[in-house]
Parts: sequence; C-alpha cells; structure tokens
Amino acid sequence: MILSIESSCDDSSIAITKIENSELIFHKKISQERQHACYGGVVPELASRLHAIDLPNILEDAKPYLNKLKAVAVTNQPGLSVTLLEGIAMAKTIAVSKDIPLIPVHHLKGHIYSLFIGKEEILPLLVLLISGGHTQIIRVESLEKMTILATSIDDSVGESFDKTAKMMGLGYPGGPLIEKLALKGDENAFDLPVPLRNSPLLAFSLSGLKNAVRLAIESLGGADNLTEQNRCDIAASFQKAVKLHLIQKSKKIFAQEPIKDFAIVGGASSNLYIRGAYEELCQEFKKEIHTASLEFCSDNAAMIGRYAVEAYKKELFVDAYKIDIVRTKKQQAGMLL
Ligand code: KG4
Ligand code: ZN
Repeated sequence: MILSIESSCDDSSIAITKIENSELIFHKKISQERQHACYGGVVPELASRLHAIDLPNILEDAKPYLNKLKAVAVTNQPGLSVTLLEGIAMAKTIAVSKDIPLIPVHHLKGHIYSLFIGKEEILPLLVLLISGGHTQIIRVESLEKMTILATSIDDSVGESFDKTAKMMGLGYPGGPLIEKLALKGDENAFDLPVPLRNSPLLAFSLSGLKNAVRLAIESLGGADNLTEQNRCDIAASFQKAVKLHLIQKSKKIFAQEPIKDFAIVGGASSNLYIRGAYEELCQEFKKEIHTASLEFCSDNAAMIGRYAVEAYKKELFVDAYKIDIVRTKKQQAGMLL
C-alpha cells in the first residue's frame, strides 16, 4: 500500500491506496474553508499551522495500515511553500523511519489522476484543468508525457469565481456560492465581455472579466446596495461569460486534436453548468467526456495516491533526505509564498 499526503493549500488530507489494483482503502480530509472564510481567501501562515495540527490527527486514524506501507507519496509542487512543507516533513519522517521509497507528486498531475481512483488509466486523454490556481488544457500521453496546449495568462477559473464572490460580499470559496446564486439569476442581465473573444491567442484570461464585474457592481451603488436578485443576475452573467470563454478556446483545440477521450478536472470541475456545456461540446465533436466523482474534484490525497501507484511501478522515487518543494521563479525571488 501507498500512503499519500496532500497539503498544497487549505486541505489536509491523507489516503492509503492499494498498489495492486489502485483501490482506495482509506481517505480522510480536513478542510480549512471555515477558518479562512472571514479573510475572503487562504492565509498561508494560518493554513500551515492548521496542517501541523490536522495532518498528525488524520495519520492517527490511518495507523492500522502503517505496517503495510511500500512507499509514501507527497505533493511537492505547485502550492503554498509553507503548507507544502508540512506535508513534506511528515512524508520524509515516515519514509526515513520505515526505510521505504518517497514519491514526489505534482499536484496538477494528481488532479488528472483523480479521474482514475479505483479504476484503470484512460490514455491518451485531453484534459481541461480548472482549479483555484490554474486553467489549462493538457494533452496527457503518459505519466511523464503531458503537454500544456493552452494556459491562463492571469487569473484562473476558480480564482475568478472567488474574487467575484468577494466583490459581492459573499464568503469563500466563491465557486459553489456563485454557481448556486446563478441558478436563480438571469444570465443575460449584464452584458459582460467574453475574454479574448476576437483574439487568435490559444490562452485563457479572466482578469478583464473580473474588472467588468467590478464595474457592474459599482454601477449599482457598490456591494452593500445589491439586492438578492442583483447578486443572482451578476453571478449568472459572470458564469455565462466564463463558460463562453472556455468553450470558445476549447473548440479550437478540439478541432485540431484527434484524441477521443476528454476530461475536466480540478475544484471548479464540480460546476454542473460548465460540465453541461462541455457535454454538449463533446457530443458535437464526438468525444467521450470523463469527470472525477464530485468528492474528488477539490484537493484530496486520494488523487495523489492514485498517481503514486503508477509512479511506484516506474520507480519514480527521490532521496528522502533531499526532497524539497519545487519553487517557482516568483517564489525563489521571495515575491510569493
Ligand atoms: O482544485 P482545488 O480544490 O484547489 C486548487 O488546486 O486550487 O480548486 C479550488 C477552486 C476554488 O477557487 C473554488 O472556488 C473552485 O475551485 N470551485 C468552483 C466550484 N467549486 C469549487 N468553481 C466554480 N464552480 C464550483 N462549483
Ligand atoms: Zn488542486
């Protein structure tokens, strides 16, 4: 069995996965959403301190399996430095004390493998990844061969939902709140711009749309003056613009990529309105659509464990004494946690 740890942002999670058939044996996650809600986003230092409390508590529940471990896996990029380090410290300790291999896992590859929890891999695969930190379309040929075909040049999908919710004075995370309000709203109430509509660029951009939402809120007298119906209409109009943007760019990639299987992963992939739009697009292009079950869309250790099963078979191990987080250029420059 493999023990996997996820602590890249505000979810502390540990899973145990059987190597032989990738069956999920144990999975527990403690989310910190409630503690960060009043700040309208994740506070890294607070998240780190909560991981230091929650991860050992979860490990205690996984105790019955600890003498059956063949390896330990941990997310080491991308994410918040101070929270990644909590998971890494635990993984290192287990690997060294039990003398078992350590598998570093790229969080986004983990999201892709959320599709295969308890199942066989489906490859090759075209993937739309929409999370709090990323918006990407990726061609997945194997564990190691993944090619980014389009990526965001500013805000990610999840981030734009969070910021829109924050501007309207709603809580965090904004995605589920906006999706719920949108159900009661008129998506044509506000004429929000579809990003990069007339640009040939194969990329995603949501900061301009965010600004248009801000101006719409200001035109109504600010967040404090919004009626419930205003909020629902803004949510619906915003969500429609995000959908049209994603679909427009995806269509271009669909037209040039012969791969038959397509999947949506990441926290925002639990959005049923966006899923519905992709179901239609897949019908049009005769592609088969795959999604992770709703409980595995947001961050979790089960997806890290599923990736680790394949990495274990290929012996993609690192020296437990040398593992560290992989820092982005901005992190190296000390500009970002
Ligand atoms: O994948 P994830 O759990 O964490 C990252 O790796 O970033 O994604 C979290 C993001 C948050 O920004 C959250 O607002 C968004 O996913 N999200 C949604 C929905 N549920 C979660 N966005 C849109 N619609 C949803 N239903
Ligand atoms: Zn994630």
